[in-house]
Amino acid sequence: MKVLLAGGAGYIGSHTCVELIEAGHSVIIADNYSNSCPVAIERVEEITGTKIPHYEADVCDPEAVERIFSENEIDAVIHFAGLKAVGESCEKPVMYYRNNIDSTLTLLEAMKRHNVNRFIFSSSATVYGTPKTVPLVETMPTGTPTNPYGWTKLMMEQILSDTAKANPEMSIVILRYFNPIGAHKSGRIGEDPNGIPNNLMPYITQVAAGRLPQLGVFGDDYPTHDGTGVRDYIHVVDLAKGHVKAIDYSSDHTGTEIVNLGTGTGYSVLDIVKAFERVNHITIPYVIKPRRAGDIAECYANAEKAEKVLGWKAELGLDEMCYDSWNWQSHNVNGYK
Ligand code: NAD
Ligand code: UD1
Repeated sequence: MKVLLAGGAGYIGSHTCVELIEAGHSVIIADNYSNSCPVAIERVEEITGTKIPHYEADVCDPEAVERIFSENEIDAVIHFAGLKAVGESCEKPVMYYRNNIDSTLTLLEAMKRHNVNRFIFSSSATVYGTPKTVPLVETMPTGTPTNPYGWTKLMMEQILSDTAKANPEMSIVILRYFNPIGAHKSGRIGEDPNGIPNNLMPYITQVAAGRLPQLGVFGDDYPTHDGTGVRDYIHVVDLAKGHVKAIDYSSDHTGTEIVNLGTGTGYSVLDIVKAFERVNHITIPYVIKPRRAGDIAECYANAEKAEKVLGWKAELGLDEMCYDSWNWQSHNVNGYK
């Protein structure tokens, strides 16, 4: 199948590109490099030994998207092209709503014109809001997001399910990611955030690399086994393989399917720090800080639906996630720069 990856030069997109190519699919990337760079695509080409057609394009731009669809026989679209920094979304809500929602609408319009009916969407566990109970099951009601980023995901889930309702030939798979970390085994592609990282693992790897002095642990008074926040960390290569399964599934599916991509296991911030230290033989200095606004105590998936519906389950454990995160960062101290 020929798959268009919107935002395919980013962290999850680049890893998905590798897995799709290795599974025999062909890919096209469209990215405006607002949070990535073309080097990531060169590295994917190096890993896979395959030339990847790519467009520097804003997928909110109807003309640019039309050109991509006219020049290629696209069978399916995976939409990674979103802005994702929670704090920034509170400062620049209009930019987030414009980019994340416009990109989705523009892609859907082009798909309609070109009769492309398979769409895989990067959603987030953030749509569950503050969970009443864990693990989180897809049938649970969505919550109230605490920030515009989360709202864009929830709004796009609605837009997509309405779109599928109106077109009986359409297959939409909404993937709710939990917390992707890790990197490809080669150490050639990985997460390369702009500026000081907001997320836990890139912060830890940058402390390990000497780019940051110490980790701040946001709160040690949560009702969890050690007081620090619990999340469902998932290896990005497992997550990427979930997209391959979703693409396969979409071939004979219509309607909207919402699927959690998580491991089903929660680890605390200190579990992650300790595992990282043990696996990589590095000490991570940390201090306990106040809770971060908008954080929840615990969030992990019930991952049964992904196994039942997509035939997918996460295979890589916490040690591999910590090892591969450091393998990437230590070989690319300044990311792709
Ligand atoms: P990323 O920033 O590394 O990748 C997103 C890519 O999209 C980047 O390459 C960026 O340049 C591109 N992009 C953004 N807007 C664009 C536009 N208008 N036109 C073309 N390209 C555009 O992020 P990621 O971690 O790979 O996340 C991919 C998707 O998954 C995002 O939608 C994100 O919200 C979602 N998600 C990520 C996480 C996570 O923890 N990383 C968790 C849940 C959901
Ligand atoms: C965050 C976003 C979520 C988004 C996801 C992926 C918030 C509130 N949530 O999830 O919407 O989908 O990223 O982009 O921002 N931590 C520290 N110190 C740090 C960084 C994090 O202690 O320097 C802790 C957090 O408090 C949390 C855990 O580590 O308990 C994971 O944090 P993070 O990696 O930012 O992910 P989420 O908050 O789960």
